[in-house]
Amino acid sequence: MEFIIVTEQYEPGIALIQLNRPKELNALNRKLMEEVRDTLQALDKNEQVRVIILTGNEQAFAAGADIKQMADKSAIDMLLIDQFSTWDQIRKTKKPIIAAVSGFALGGGCELAMMCDMIIASESAKFGQPEIKIGTIPGAGGTQRLTRAIGKAKAMELILTGRFLSAEEAHFYGLVNKVVPVEMYLHEAVALAREIAQMSPVAVQLAKEAVNRSFETHLDEGLAFERKNFYLTFASADQKEGMQAFIEKRKPQFKGH
Ligand code: CAA
Repeated sequence: MEFIIVTEQYEPGIALIQLNRPKELNALNRKLMEEVRDTLQALDKNEQVRVIILTGNEQAFAAGADIKQMADKSAIDMLLIDQFSTWDQIRKTKKPIIAAVSGFALGGGCELAMMCDMIIASESAKFGQPEIKIGTIPGAGGTQRLTRAIGKAKAMELILTGRFLSAEEAHFYGLVNKVVPVEMYLHEAVALAREIAQMSPVAVQLAKEAVNRSFETHLDEGLAFERKNFYLTFASADQKEGMQAFIEKRKPQFKGH
């Protein structure tokens, strides 16, 4: 890997992907995103991994898609390269992904964080979709996901002005789960991952799938989907163990099937 650092077992059950183009504030070039996609595919299949953390460094999660790589492209070049289709894999990942964000999360960086399932932010995090300032618009989900996350009025303001949201504002608007001091953001993400990693991975996967379905369907269909996934958990040994442990007043020992 050239632009990311992967630690498969950062802790038992927790994988860490660190974006690693620090001089360019982790600008997301095509190779970097292909590396993220391939790594996510591999981690999703790796039975030793329960939760994935995606992070950058203190200064930048990512300052957007690589402007220098795109600047001189024609519309047809962009269409044929179709670079954002690579990003779809993030959405297809079955295991939970936590974004641990410090510094800039702008443009594609903000979109990448929003593609994750939860966001832990450092106090220095800055979120925004500043594409308007360079004569374009968000292209990897910003107009859709930011609007769903923080509501139309604020999303419209950010997308039309390119203003940034501070970590505190991002928390206020529900974009991030928690804001912590800079030196704590990765620890906090790991603590969250550790808690989830102890649950039944089957139940975690089915729950994630059901929550995500709520963005894609109407209530009736979403409820039916949830119910089927709920019933499906009863095919797992972990459900039997979980309920039996509750009855016997002990801690469950989930086996992952
Ligand atoms: N693409 C390419 N290079 C980038 C970059 C980006 N998105 N963001 C930063 N860099 C590079 C800079 O060019 C600079 O490189 P050089 O030292 O070689 O000049 C280096 O990273 C450091 O950046 P700055 O000197 O600009 O640092 P700063 O602290 O003064 O400013 C910043 C930081 C406000 C984040 C500023 O870099 C900036 O505005 N970056 C661009 C943000 C942006 O517009 N993002 C959206 C990109 S388009 C997109 O993402 C489309 C989409 O929907 C997917």
